[in-house]
Amino acid sequence: MKENKLFKGKTLAILSGGGDTPAINSSIEAVRNRASMLGFKVYGIRKGWKGLLGDGDVVDLTCQPYSGLYGGTALRSSRTNPFPSKKNPEDRVPQVLRNLKRYKIDVLVTIGGDDTNGAAKRLYEQEGIPVIGFPKTIDNDLRTKTWHTFEDKTVDAVICPGFPTAAKSIAEFASRIKTTAESHSRIMVMEVMGRDAGWLTGAGTFGSGTLSLIPEVEMNKERKDFFLELVNEEYQRNPKKTLIIPVSEGVRWYDDATGKTDVVYASTEQDEYGHARLGGVSGAIASEISNKLHIDARAQVTGYYPRSGVCSEYDRRFTQTLADKVVDLLLREEYGKMPVLNKVCKYEELEEFNCSSIDMGAIGNRPLPKEYFDENTFKFTPMYLDFLSHIIGKPHYPEFLYDFPVVIPEED
Ligand code: F6P
Repeated sequence: MKENKLFKGKTLAILSGGGDTPAINSSIEAVRNRASMLGFKVYGIRKGWKGLLGDGDVVDLTCQPYSGLYGGTALRSSRTNPFPSKKNPEDRVPQVLRNLKRYKIDVLVTIGGDDTNGAAKRLYEQEGIPVIGFPKTIDNDLRTKTWHTFEDKTVDAVICPGFPTAAKSIAEFASRIKTTAESHSRIMVMEVMGRDAGWLTGAGTFGSGTLSLIPEVEMNKERKDFFLELVNEEYQRNPKKTLIIPVSEGVRWYDDATGKTDVVYASTEQDEYGHARLGGVSGAIASEISNKLHIDARAQVTGYYPRSGVCSEYDRRFTQTLADKVVDLLLREEYGKMPVLNKVCKYEELEEFNCSSIDMGAIGNRPLPKEYFDENTFKFTPMYLDFLSHIIGKPHYPEFLYDFPVVIPEED
């Protein structure tokens, strides 16, 4: 390493927390490469905040081979919260501070959603730790203040690394199950992760999804009955007698048996940030379609599929662009900030000059804006489709519009 590097003798450490995405390794690689060029020694903290507890779990990433294309996170992850929580009332911040000192870490880059970065923000505000947040989530629900303009409207939208790859996978998933659904004249109720936000569910529309359900729109009794009517109409209208219905795992659905409208939990056990595991609403919806409309319906849980696999080209360049902005923050020694994209843009426009940073104090949840979903038709709006087309392009999935002439046997 050259002697005159700006940050020679300083150490930058990276951690990733929360659910993994296919773009985390790309983020780690991009930040590591740039920080190394500035002269930092670069460490990786394993398993999120957990790697700063006890004796610590820290690895050296400086001059090590790294694959940013490979999905998941080579630094591993956890949902550990160093601050006291319902699940774990112990305050473990002193352990974090002790390890930051022991390992002589000067700057911390935290790759995460609002949980991991929320904890980072508190460390910065309460303890003055030099932290730079780095966004990540397939749910796309982390406020990034990325503007989207369509026709005469502008919306405060979100783009987080991980979402572009996940959205592409969801669109492909919907396009693939269409062929089996068509073959059996079935309705497929396709459940999509995203916790309390419907951003990812909308990607099913690009793969043939029609009507959709999102957490932002509560499905009470009246709305459920209305929705089932629309399902029936749309199905009967479809020449192939089939429908793909993407639904968010966090949909609040009216239960005839209990008379309550609530989410469906896979497990009510909560993590250290107070989240219970969602899952199973697609089964309830499919069985009501079968029972009430007498149409063959199946539930398909897409599960971890959108979180898995290699990083898409968009995410790769996106993470590199945000890492360029991290360099800017490091050079200015501006901490307590998170790099974001200024406006929703296409691949070619992913450039550092289209980025800015937001105060980590402004980090929070961002549900799907109402301009993106029409709750009267249960369809994503043209504005959402425009948003998505910037990120995953226009869909080009195979379509076989068969309509064979029916043969009538000739009378003898
Ligand atoms: O936050 C990302 C996410 O994939 C959510 O969409 C989902 O509800 C949750 O994580 C699942 O978490 P786990 O990996 O703990 O099952």
